[in-house]
Amino acid sequence: MWKPPERIRHQSIDAPWPGENEASASLLFSTLNFQRLSLARRSWVPAMVPWRATDEGFVTDNVVDWYRRFAKGRPGAIVVEATGVRDVPSGPLLRIGHDRFLDGLRRVVDAVREASDGETKLFIQLIDFLAIKRRPEKKKFIRRFLPITEAHRDALSMIGQDDEAVIERLLQAEDAALEEILTPREFESLMRGFRERVTDTSESHIRDLPQSMPGIFADAARRAEAAGFDGVELHYAHAYTMASFLSRLNARNDGYGGNLEGRVRLPLDVFHAVRGNVSDNFVVGCRMLSDECIADGSGIDDASVFAENFARAGMDFISLSRGGKFEDAATPKVGEAIYPYTGRSGYECMPQIISDVQGPFGRNVSPAVQIRDHVRATGLETPVVVAGGIHHFRQAEMLLQDGAADIIGFARQAMADPDWFEKVRLGRGAEINMCKYTNYCEGLDHKHKMVTCQLWDRKKTDDPGVKLAPDGKRRTTAPDWQR
Ligand SMILES: Cc1cc2nc3c(=O)[nH]c(=O)nc-3n(C[C@H](O)[C@H](O)[C@H](O)COP(=O)(O)O)c2cc1C
Repeated sequence: MWKPPERIRHQSIDAPWPGENEASASLLFSTLNFQRLSLARRSWVPAMVPWRATDEGFVTDNVVDWYRRFAKGRPGAIVVEATGVRDVPSGPLLRIGHDRFLDGLRRVVDAVREASDGETKLFIQLIDFLAIKRRPEKKKFIRRFLPITEAHRDALSMIGQDDEAVIERLLQAEDAALEEILTPREFESLMRGFRERVTDTSESHIRDLPQSMPGIFADAARRAEAAGFDGVELHYAHAYTMASFLSRLNARNDGYGGNLEGRVRLPLDVFHAVRGNVSDNFVVGCRMLSDECIADGSGIDDASVFAENFARAGMDFISLSRGGKFEDAATPKVGEAIYPYTGRSGYECMPQIISDVQGPFGRNVSPAVQIRDHVRATGLETPVVVAGGIHHFRQAEMLLQDGAADIIGFARQAMADPDWFEKVRLGRGAEINMCKYTNYCEGLDHKHKMVTCQLWDRKKTDDPGVKLAPDGKRRTTAPDWQR
């Protein structure tokens, strides 16, 4: 995991919590109504994958428990974790690519409605991603995956020699020599595992993404509505298919890449297909990046144009994240897959308590201000959700008062203490368990292990009825709040 060289240890905000009257008069606890989006309060739990689905992508009791626990805190909205839109094996990622997933998803909806008395709106994040393979052993890669070409023979001065002789020479070569002999893409596949890109248009399934994606997302959204969700969040952020279309690195020359207009085209097509396949009152918004935070990637100016396009097209909200890309991710170990939150852009997405001068709290705020201002300047009122290190009422309320954002996302803080929202509302903020921002949770996410919070594990794990993670040591949900 990349860490800022400065290594400055920051402290959570230590300011007085509001009393009940101040909280109830605050913007954070005020309603929001825009188009189809109506929230009882302006707090939001952004999507977080907790690795609790079955290997086939079905909802489990642990998935239901996870969302029920958040709903007990009654945030304005919860976004269910990134959920795969295609009907293809995706490991233990939640899926919505077929009607067989609906019964499980309905259980999540029912649990959230019941636990929040219907106060919390429930959205589901719809994700598509391209293939990535684990980093191979060198021998396996050279023998099984690398097509031997004339370029290899040429680089090795072995023109006219058979494949087996070339393979033998490649197997003996050091990494530095291989870097000279192989193409950059081949060398990357060897060192980091093969990874598809939206620019691999020689592959028909990649070339045809502009034709396939709208229908796949639209079908998934229809299922989300059938399962009872209030809306969907189209995942246009981080390292995945739709974000890769928006990226400045998208050099497709088929009208779906290159300039801003080309890059935003498929995300707009997907939105229109989704909008056309759900009821009029069903909420459709997206999560996108305020900044890719990688060399030659899209920045705030690009994001402003994208947000304007999405707002103009009629999205009900725009949620902003940042970073989380493959391009600068750490080199994985042999047998492991590259993880998009291990480089500098990953740090920007989920900054930790040990940081640079800027610190981990509110790194996405000033980009959000610029993007929101740009959208407002075009006369559009689409609500903007901002997240990233927001953990205190004063901080959240100031952002709303200043017009930095319309809705405040609390991801890791809501995980640390799902009752944050109720505790603040009732004037009992001093009882909040503050997130330590050590990224214990994110470390578990990296290993695809059931995500839990280090704070919960300090509480008794032998209480009656407490469920434990497969390692038998960690609670699966936050301890209940004894009011
Ligand atoms: C364990 C974990 C899983 C996450 N999964 C997702 C996800 O599925 N989709 C997404 O858009 N962001 C995901 N994120 C990023 C969060 O939504 C959020 O943007 C990030 O943690 C920064 O907000 P915070 O500082 O309030 O935690 C995840 C974060 C964590 C810690």
